[in-house]
Amino acid sequence: MFAEKRRPVPPTLPAFSLASRRFFEIPEYLLRVRQEHGTIVRFHAPGRNVFFVSEPSLVEQVLVTKSSSFMKGRGTQRLKLGLGNGLLTSEPPQHLHNRRLIQPLFHRKRIEGYGTIMVAEARKRMEAWSEGAAIDVDFETNRLALDIVAKSVFGSDLSRDMDAISGSLDVLIEGFPKLMAPFAEYFDWLPTPSNLRYAGARRRLDGVVYRMIREHREGGGDPDDLLSLLLEARDESGAGLSEQQIRDEALTILLAGHETTANAIAWTFYILQRRPDIEARLFATVDRILGERAATAADVPELEYVRALFAETMRLYPPAWITGRRATQAVEIGDYRLKAGDIVLSLDGQTITGADDLIRALTGEKIGRTVTLDVLRVTERLAISLVPEERKRKG
Ligand code: HEM
Repeated sequence: MFAEKRRPVPPTLPAFSLASRRFFEIPEYLLRVRQEHGTIVRFHAPGRNVFFVSEPSLVEQVLVTKSSSFMKGRGTQRLKLGLGNGLLTSEPPQHLHNRRLIQPLFHRKRIEGYGTIMVAEARKRMEAWSEGAAIDVDFETNRLALDIVAKSVFGSDLSRDMDAISGSLDVLIEGFPKLMAPFAEYFDWLPTPSNLRYAGARRRLDGVVYRMIREHREGGGDPDDLLSLLLEARDESGAGLSEQQIRDEALTILLAGHETTANAIAWTFYILQRRPDIEARLFATVDRILGERAATAADVPELEYVRALFAETMRLYPPAWITGRRATQAVEIGDYRLKAGDIVLSLDGQTITGADDLIRALTGEKIGRTVTLDVLRVTERLAISLVPEERKRKG
């Protein structure tokens, strides 16, 4: 018999040092771990390992090339409590089945339609702003993104439901750190104030979504909205989605489709506020391409500077900053062997490309596939003043 080749073991820390962190301390802590121990680190407890990976090629193996050896991580599993089994939380084979059914939602023609909704809703929101007055950017961007996605999902006039939808989704989002506390799954049944708040929010959302489904079935709603598409969707055997599945998918898009986008826009405002030179270039670009007319989806390729700024903002302040996967079988990632049940965590955006890359960007070296010349120029300006302190603000 041949002896098995010895496998390298990454730098190892006790699992407790990660598990004892509060939710919003995790990114800061993991960045420190990466700085001190390298791009693959193992948190070890008897019978279970958590690998923290920040080497892009290894992350790609986990999320893309070897994704069939992994399922979604605990964070996503915990989201099922509010969202059920939609695209974000489901696993094969349901995931692929529903993904195919929902795919038409993201066809070019549909995207153009969403562009019209986005512009109309942005204009409506801006009408309440006055020159020189302070606004709560976090609130405004959140409501704008939610108004857009809600209109795209449900079509019809939702103004009477928006406060209930927004308040309830906020409860789900704000409750997430509690859901992620160690052993929290064993206490979901306890009638604690936060569990009751969570259940109440879910009930209110269910009330709105199921009523909308009913109204759509009775001929209401816009034939182009997501709910109409979900109601009509059929697979090759002619089977459609159950009422519960429609509810789960609609709620998933409502939540996943606004919180991230709102955060990204809020951080973009933050950068613009700190960098009048970037703001001036942004306005000059918009003035040159649009003049006084409203944007459409067809303008996006021309608005390259806007896209680059937005991409760079997300790299610096990633709205979805952590991704978790659980190995479902033994699998090799780089030189390392993971066993079934092991967990892989990766941080997104800047946390993958890293501060070193900002320095490389300054010297003009190419730093990643989404990076364009424009982004490099933006990066060069941002690198000096914008890196460490505000990461703390948003967690
Ligand atoms: C800046 C904006 C956004 C960011 C940063 C973002 C980020 C992400 C990330 C990182 C994932 C993967 C999660 C995982 O697999 O663990 C994801 C999945 C998903 N996102 Fe987004 N997202 C954004 C906007 C949106 C929008 C606008 C929608 C819907 C209209 C949306 C709907 C979804 C859905 C349905 C999934 C699950 C996809 C699947 O597994 O098939 N997201 N998003």
